[in-house]
Amino acid sequence: MKKLTLLMSLFWGILLAGCSETKGLRVEDGVIVFDTPARAAGQQSVLGLRCEPIDTIRVGFIGLGMRGPDAVKRYTYLDGVEITALCDLYPERVDSAQQILRRRGLPEAAAYSGEEGWKQLCEREDLDLVYIVTPWVCHTPMAIYAMQCGKHVAVEVPAAMSLDECWQLVDTAEKTQRHCMMLENCVYDFFELTTLNMAQQGLFGDILHVEGSYIHNLDEFWDYYQGNWRLEFNRTHRGDVYATHGLGPACQLLNIHRGDRMKYLVAMDTPSVNGLKKAKESLGAESFANGDHTLTLIKTEQGRAIHLQHNVYTPRPYSRMYQLTGTDGFANKYPVQGFAFHPEQLCESGVPDHQNLSSHSFVPKEVREQLMEQYKHPITRETEAKAREVGGHGGMDFIMDYRLVYCLHHGLPLDQDVYDAAEWSCIGELTATSIEHNSAPVAVPDFTRGDWNKIEGYRHAMLVD
Ligand SMILES: NC(=O)c1ccc[n+]([C@@H]2O[C@H](COP(=O)([O-])OP(=O)(O)OC[C@H]3O[C@@H](n4cnc5c(N)ncnc54)[C@H](O)[C@@H]3O)[C@@H](O)[C@H]2O)c1
Repeated sequence: MKKLTLLMSLFWGILLAGCSETKGLRVEDGVIVFDTPARAAGQQSVLGLRCEPIDTIRVGFIGLGMRGPDAVKRYTYLDGVEITALCDLYPERVDSAQQILRRRGLPEAAAYSGEEGWKQLCEREDLDLVYIVTPWVCHTPMAIYAMQCGKHVAVEVPAAMSLDECWQLVDTAEKTQRHCMMLENCVYDFFELTTLNMAQQGLFGDILHVEGSYIHNLDEFWDYYQGNWRLEFNRTHRGDVYATHGLGPACQLLNIHRGDRMKYLVAMDTPSVNGLKKAKESLGAESFANGDHTLTLIKTEQGRAIHLQHNVYTPRPYSRMYQLTGTDGFANKYPVQGFAFHPEQLCESGVPDHQNLSSHSFVPKEVREQLMEQYKHPITRETEAKAREVGGHGGMDFIMDYRLVYCLHHGLPLDQDVYDAAEWSCIGELTATSIEHNSAPVAVPDFTRGDWNKIEGYRHAMLVD
C-alpha cells in the first residue's frame, strides 16, 4: 500500500512538474494540496467576530448595473440605515440610483464615478459598510481596500476568483478585524431556511449527502453585463465558477467550519458547445474554457458528500437543486418541493404493503404545507411579510440585507463570515485544477487554519443569545 502511495506521489509529481501551476502545490495520498500560507504576526482569527454595535449604518454602494440598484432600493426599506454614497463607472448610473432615493423621499447620496471613484468612496470617514455589486474581478480588490479603510464589507458572489484572492480576504479581515460577508442570498430562501430549521431539529436524522447547483440559462442576459465581463471571465476559466448559490445552503446544513469541513473535491466538465458559440458571436473568440456543464463531488472530513453542478449555457429549467439526504428523511426543492420520511411514519397499519410505492414518495401536499408552517424559520416568521412586499428574488434578498443590518446594529457575528466567503468562492480554482488533472482529487484549504471544529453547529446569531 505504502509502495502504491509512493508511486502515486511520484506519478503526480511528474505530472504536476509538467504544468505551469506547480507553484505552491504538492501531492499527498493522491490528493493535490495547495499550500496554506502561515498566519502573519498580529493577525487574529475572526471566527465569531463581534464588533461595536452601530446605531445607524452608513452604507456606500459600488456597482449600479443590473443588480446594484435593487440593493439600493431594498436598503431604503430598512430601519437604522443611511445611504451615504453611490458609485459606478458611469455617472448616469449613479444619477438613476439617486432617483430611487428621491422616489423614497430620501436625501441624495454622495456620488462617485470613473475607474477609481470607488477608492474615494471607501476612504470616506462617514461610512460603516461598503456594499460591492461589481463584476467579479473587482470584488476582492475592492473588499480589501474597504477593510483597510476600516469599513465592514458586503460583497456579491463569488467574493473571490482565485485561491490567492480567498486568502487575501481572510488575511485582511483577520488583520483589520472587520466583517467581510459574501452576499449569498440563496441561504435565505424560504424553503432553504425552513429545511435548515428542520435539519437542526433532527427531522432528517444524520445528513449524509447534499446537492446544490447553479443551472440557469443566461442566453438573454449575456449581452447586458457591462463590457461583457461575465462571458469574458468564463471564456478564460474552466470549472465551477459560480458555485456559491448551490454550495452555501449545503454548507450551512453540514455545519461547515462549525464541526465539519470540506476535505477534497473532484470535478469533471463537458465540452463547451453553447458557451463557445456565444463567445464566437459576442467576443469573436475562437476557444472557450468553461464547459457547458460542470460537475463536482466534495467529500467532508466527517465523510459526507456534496454534489454541485454548474450550467449557464443550455436550455434547462432554472435549478439550484437543493437536495438533502438524511438517515431519517429527504428534502428536495427543484423541480418539485417535497419531503420524504421513513415509510412507517406514513403507513397507518404498520404492515408494509409491497404493492404500494406511494409510501416511498414525497409526503402529501397537505403534510408538506403543514411542515413548512410548523418549521418556518424564526427569521422568516419575523421578516416574511415585508420581504415579500419589498422583494428581491421573491424576498430572500431582503432577508439577507435585513440580517446583515440586524447583526451590525447589535454587534453580533454575521450569518456568513469571511471563512464562508473563502470556502464557497475557492471552488472555481479548485475545480479547474481537478479538471485539468483528469478529475484528480484536490484538497479544500482550511481557511480557519485549524479552527474548523471550534464552533458547534451552524446558527444565526440572535439578540437573545
Ligand atoms: N446574488 C445574486 O442573486 C446575484 C444576481 C445577479 C448578480 N449578482 C452579482 O452581482 C454582481 C454584479 O452583477 P450585475 O448583473 O449587476 O452586473 P452588471 O455588469 O450589470 O453591473 C456591474 C456594474 O459595476 C460597474 N462597475 C464596473 N467596474 C467598476 C468600477 N471600477 N467602479 C465602479 N463601478 C464599476 C459597472 O459599470 C456596472 O454598472 C456580480 O458579482 C454578480 O455575480 C448576484
